[in-house]
Amino acid sequence: MEQIFEPYAEFAKDARIKNMDEYHALMNKANDDYEGFWGDYANEKIDWFSPYKQVLDESNAPFYKWFVGGTMNVAHQCVDRHLATRKNKAAIIFEGDNGDQQVITYRELSYEVNKTANLLKNQFNVKKGDRVVLYMPMIPEAAVAMLACARIGAIHSIVFGGFSAEALRDRIIDAEANLVITADGAYRKGKPYMLKPVVDKALEEGCECVKKVCIVERNGEDISWVAGRDYSYNELIKNESSKCEPEPMDSEDPLFLLYTSGSTGKPKGVQHSSAGYILWAQMTMEWVFDVRENDTYWCTADIGWITGHTYIVYGPLAMGATTVMFEGVPTFPDAGRCWSMVEEYQINQFYTAPTAIRLLHKMGENEPAKYDLSSLRVLGTVGEPIDPPAWKWYYEAIGNSKCAIVDTYWQTETGGHMISPLPGATPIKPGCATFPLPGIMAEIIDEDGTPTPIGEKGFMCITKPWPSMIRTIWNDPDRFVKSYFGDCKKDGEPVYFTGDGAMMSDDGYITITGRTDDVINVSGHRMGTAEVEAAIKKHPGVASVAVVGKPHEIKGEGIFAYVVLKGEDTMAEEMEMVQEINKIVLTEIGAIAKCDDIKFVPDLPKTRSGKIMRRILRSIAKGEPITQDTSTLEDPSIVQKIQTCII
Ligand code: WTA
Repeated sequence: MEQIFEPYAEFAKDARIKNMDEYHALMNKANDDYEGFWGDYANEKIDWFSPYKQVLDESNAPFYKWFVGGTMNVAHQCVDRHLATRKNKAAIIFEGDNGDQQVITYRELSYEVNKTANLLKNQFNVKKGDRVVLYMPMIPEAAVAMLACARIGAIHSIVFGGFSAEALRDRIIDAEANLVITADGAYRKGKPYMLKPVVDKALEEGCECVKKVCIVERNGEDISWVAGRDYSYNELIKNESSKCEPEPMDSEDPLFLLYTSGSTGKPKGVQHSSAGYILWAQMTMEWVFDVRENDTYWCTADIGWITGHTYIVYGPLAMGATTVMFEGVPTFPDAGRCWSMVEEYQINQFYTAPTAIRLLHKMGENEPAKYDLSSLRVLGTVGEPIDPPAWKWYYEAIGNSKCAIVDTYWQTETGGHMISPLPGATPIKPGCATFPLPGIMAEIIDEDGTPTPIGEKGFMCITKPWPSMIRTIWNDPDRFVKSYFGDCKKDGEPVYFTGDGAMMSDDGYITITGRTDDVINVSGHRMGTAEVEAAIKKHPGVASVAVVGKPHEIKGEGIFAYVVLKGEDTMAEEMEMVQEINKIVLTEIGAIAKCDDIKFVPDLPKTRSGKIMRRILRSIAKGEPITQDTSTLEDPSIVQKIQTCII
C-alpha cells in the first residue's frame, strides 16, 4: 500500500485552505463560474488604479487577455501598498556568501526602488516598454532593479549569472535591450567571482542596441570601464530622489521576459503580463506556502530562473511577506549552511529543488540534527520530480515529520504553480504533485482531448486559460502558437500543452512523468538538447552529434552526447576532444550545460528518412536492453556498434 501523509492537524486548523472540502468548494466555484472566480480574486487582491472592464477576453485565442482595461502597477502592488501597515516589517533579509547580513524593510525597499526607478529614467533614458537585461548576482539590488523596471513600465529580462557571454549576447539581441544592469561580480564559496567581464565580452559584437551598462559594486574587484557606456550604480544613485510615481500599467502590459529552452532552436523569450501574473504569484504564495504575517520565508532559487522571479521577489512581496535572499551555495562552508540559516532566521517555509535535497542528504546526512529547525512548517520542492529517498529525508530530517511537503509542478510559461498539494488540506503521496490548484483546469488527455485512462501516460494540458499564463514568445507569436497550442485539442479547440507527460491514479492524484519532447532537466534546469547539439557542432572536428538525458544520482538528469567525428581519431586525440567540446559548451552556453558523458560513435541511429531515433540513444545511455523496433533504421547494426563504443 502506498503511504499517504495527512496534513498536520495543528497546522491545518489555521491554514487558508483547511481541508479537501474547502478545496473542492473552490474548484466547484471555478467550474461553475470561471470568470466570476477570477474576477473576485482580482478585485480582492490587486490594488487597481482603475478597474478592469472584462475578466477574460478570448476573442483572439490563444492570445488571451485578462482583466481587460484595468490599470495597476506591480511595484505599487509589491511595495507601496504595504507602507500603510508594514512599513517597518522586513521585506528582504539578505545573507551574503560570507555570512554578512542585511535587513531591508518595506520602507527601505520603497526608498531604493524609487531611487533606482528615477535613475533608470533620468540617467539611462529608459522608457515604458523598453527592455532592460539584468545579469546580476543574488543581491538585494537585483530585486530592487526588477521592481524599479516594473515601476516605470520597463520590461526586464534576467539572464542567469551562470550563462556565458555568448548566451547573454543572444538574449540581449533577441530582446533588443538598451540597458544592461550587472555587478562587478559577487562571492561564491568564499571567493569573489566576476560578471562584468562576461558583459564586456557579450557586448563586443552585435549588441548595438545596448547604449549603457549600469554596474552595481559588490565585490570591489578590478573591472574595466568603457567611457560613455559604463556607469557606477553606487555613484549615480546618490543623486536620485526617492520619489518616483509608479507608471499606470495596463493589465496586459508585459512585466518581464524570461528566456527558456524549447525542444528546438534557440531559447524562447517567454513574455509575462502585469496583472494576471502578479495575481497568481500572490495567490499561490498564500495558498501553497500559507505564509502568515509574522513568518519568514526562504526560497533558495536564483533570480535568473522563474522560481526566483515568482517565489523570491514578486509573490512574497506582493503578499507583504518577508523573503530571504541568499548569495551563496548550500554546501559552503559545509552542507549545514541551509539548516544554520533556517535556525538563524527562524524560517517557516523553505522552498528548494530536489537536486539540492539529494546533494545535502549525500554530503551532510547528519547536519540537520545540529540545528534547531523547529520553526519550519512548510517545505517545498520544484523543478523536477522528487524521488522517495530524498522525500523521506526531507520529511523526517528537515521537517521532523510535521511539515507538509508541497511538490509544486509548474513552468516558466505558467508563471506560478499549477499542480501542488495544499499544506493544510491535501493528503500527500511522496513524489506526486497531487491535484491542480483551485482555478487551474489541468487535464491529462491525448491529442484529441480524450481523457487518458487511469494509470496510463498522457499529455499534461491546461485546458482553460489562466491569469498568469505566458502571453506570447517575444518577437515570435507564431512560435508561441505552435509550441504550446499545436499538439492538443479539446472539443476541437487548441489547448495549452505543457510538454510534460503525466498519469492519474484511480483516486485522482496526478504524477508528472517528465518531458515528452527533447528538453532535459539538469538539476531542475531546463536544457534543450538542440541547444547543446548546436554548441558541440561548432567544433570543427565534429561531423554530427545527438544529445540525450541520462539519469543522474544528484542532478536528476545528466547530459550524454553521442559524437560522430569527421576523421579517424586515436584514443589520445579523443580524450583531448572531450575537453575541447566541453570548453565550447562552456563558452556557448555555460557550466550548466557541461556534458557528463561524451562518447565517440561511428554513426547515429537514423531512420531511412534521416531522423535520429533518440529513444534508442536514451536506452543505450541508460544501459537498458533495446526493446524498440530497430527495423526502420537505415542500418540496424549501428545499435550494437554504438553499444560497443560506449562501454
Ligand atoms: C519540470 C520550473 C516534476 C517539468 C518551475 C516542467 C517538474 C519543467 C516539477 C519546467 C515537479 C517542474 N515535478 N517535474 N514538481 N516542476 N518540473 O520552466 O518538466 O524551469 O515542464 O520551471 O520542469 O521547468 P522551468
